[in-house]
Amino acid sequence: MTNSQRKILVTSALPYANGPIHLGHMLEYIQTDIWSRYQKLRGHECHYICADDAHGTPIMLKAQQMGITPEEMIAQVQKEHEQDFADFNIQFDNFHSTHSDENRELSTQIYLKLREGGYIKSKTISQLFDPEKEMFLPDRFVKGTCPKCKSEDQYGDNCDNCGATYSTTDLINPYSSVSGATPVMKDSEHFFFDLPAFETMLGEWLSSGSMQPEIANKLREWFEQGLQQWDISRDAPYFGFEIPDQPGKFFYVWLDAPIGYMGSFKNLCDRRDDINFDDFWAKDSTAELYHFIGKDIVNFHGLFWPAVLDGAGIRKPTAIFAHGYVTVNGAKMSKSKGTFIKARTYLDNLDPEYLRYYYAAKLNNRVDDLDLNLEDFAQRVNSDLVGKLVNLASRTAGFISKRFDGKLAKINDTSLTEAFLAKQETIAELYETREFGKAMREIMALADLANAYVAEAAPWQLIKQEDKQEEAHQVCSNALNLFRILVTYLKPVLPTLAANVESFLQITLTWDNLDQDLAGHEIAKFKALMQRIEMKSIEAIIESSTENLQVTQTEAPKEEAVQTELEKEPLAPEITFDDFAKIDLRIALIAKAEHIEKANKLLRLELDLGGETKQVFAGIKSAYAPEDLIGKHTVMVANLAPRKMKFGESEGMVLAAGPGGKDIWILEPHAGAKPGMRVM
Ligand code: 2FM
Ligand code: ZN
Repeated sequence: MTNSQRKILVTSALPYANGPIHLGHMLEYIQTDIWSRYQKLRGHECHYICADDAHGTPIMLKAQQMGITPEEMIAQVQKEHEQDFADFNIQFDNFHSTHSDENRELSTQIYLKLREGGYIKSKTISQLFDPEKEMFLPDRFVKGTCPKCKSEDQYGDNCDNCGATYSTTDLINPYSSVSGATPVMKDSEHFFFDLPAFETMLGEWLSSGSMQPEIANKLREWFEQGLQQWDISRDAPYFGFEIPDQPGKFFYVWLDAPIGYMGSFKNLCDRRDDINFDDFWAKDSTAELYHFIGKDIVNFHGLFWPAVLDGAGIRKPTAIFAHGYVTVNGAKMSKSKGTFIKARTYLDNLDPEYLRYYYAAKLNNRVDDLDLNLEDFAQRVNSDLVGKLVNLASRTAGFISKRFDGKLAKINDTSLTEAFLAKQETIAELYETREFGKAMREIMALADLANAYVAEAAPWQLIKQEDKQEEAHQVCSNALNLFRILVTYLKPVLPTLAANVESFLQITLTWDNLDQDLAGHEIAKFKALMQRIEMKSIEAIIESSTENLQVTQTEAPKEEAVQTELEKEPLAPEITFDDFAKIDLRIALIAKAEHIEKANKLLRLELDLGGETKQVFAGIKSAYAPEDLIGKHTVMVANLAPRKMKFGESEGMVLAAGPGGKDIWILEPHAGAKPGMRVM
């Protein structure tokens, strides 16, 4: 096989800097990491680059909600992301941020190049504007009543209830989920990237084999509908880079995000003498460039990005590799089922290499979704890694240390070694083509052969017989040599195990020395390499991932909307004792509770505070009938500033907890608590 050194730049999609990494994200990082580790193992020059995606409206609003600057928030999140990745053994050559000097410079340069080329147009467009927050509202921050089925609190452009799709401006009684205000239409000048000018180039690109066929076909549908100008500007307030010569206008986050790949690489090159930025990005670069992404962002990477690069005189990607979504136990990850598992929760309970192996075992090079079935996961890892792989060494290594001075014998029968080595090209090709599942099956089939050999030869019996010592030495040495080959094959997937095996065997495992002869070589004492997965660890993960203890605030639909949009992963800022002391929590008697006509989620409550009565709208209709509430005591925030809502003024907030739906419980204090009492 020819194996001349390639220059390869690899990326994974940049995670948004407003939430934690979860096991859905991890599929992509593990897939990319295995692939780039494989390239490095083959001796290629491969750089694996990533960054946090730090710009945009949701990030700006989330930081506001937390009472910190976006810069503070993205710095904090980046730290957490980097720790999660490091602990999953994701070996980035650089992890940067899109909110960086390098990215600002590159984005500006690219924009100016596009403008020079005549690819930037401007047009005045009319959009929904929040007059209270004084900002334009992205679709996802507008809610209202579905124009078709009249169901309330539906998102910007589609109805959860009847499935209708419509334009945000068709919503009945629209409201901003940021402030609750009724949006108005407002004109503003926007800048557009002239995507249609790249139609011919993109047509060729789609047929070039740079994308998986199912993705290329999907993107061709865009062509049939006719390519549209792409809106690349956003008005202040916006967290991003200001557009040159256009004060108050910012690059849309999706313009500078992929440029963030270049920015992160630039940041690496500036610290390293041996890598040259232009070698990888110049128009005539012969280096290979690959983007691993999820199937939800193929239009950005498969259409806009190559066109932007082309327009700016920069090379295009060699290929884009899209993967499907992760489901857990056959369904979408769910917070109430405890299957929305954060990377950190997993790491608190299980070895990252288990998940790396399981994902590898189930990955192929198509865009299929991948199911993380937790029982299958435990079973597969226990049977393959512990039962087949590690067992090979644990059953034989002790004899080498105890009986043979820790030295391996010269192997007489090399037939299994040869069979193992004969698979190297097949396995290499499967890694190269991202058919990791098939690679794992090939490797485990070899492990089966080795185990059958050891079982048959039974060194634990040979060792007891005086005249069979040499034979026992042969079998154990042979088994450990086969184990060495298997672990080398698995090194991109199981880097920690491989490192531990390197210390144990006292060698470096590389592809080039797959055929090394260890006759007479001394090995270290064997230490346990991997434990079985216990179901109780998985149960602990599910339990910590089940969100039923989070205090749900029950006031207004506008708040609720912010909650679902921005607080997918609640990350409340720390408050001082003084902040806390400002909250006047009181025992309240629910004197009255009633349905509100046309409200889906809210009940109207009258709360008796021992003299004073307050009206509160609480989003607990899914869990309580009004008659069940009357006469109950609960806890309310009594000094919340009154808010005008669609159905009247809400003068406080009731405390409740639960994942949602039927499972919301208002806090019910002890019967001894009397209305009006202060809660401490
Ligand atoms: O979809 C996402 O999570 C984006 N943050 C991915 C950006 S990838 C690249 F283009 F920057
Ligand atoms: Zn509807």
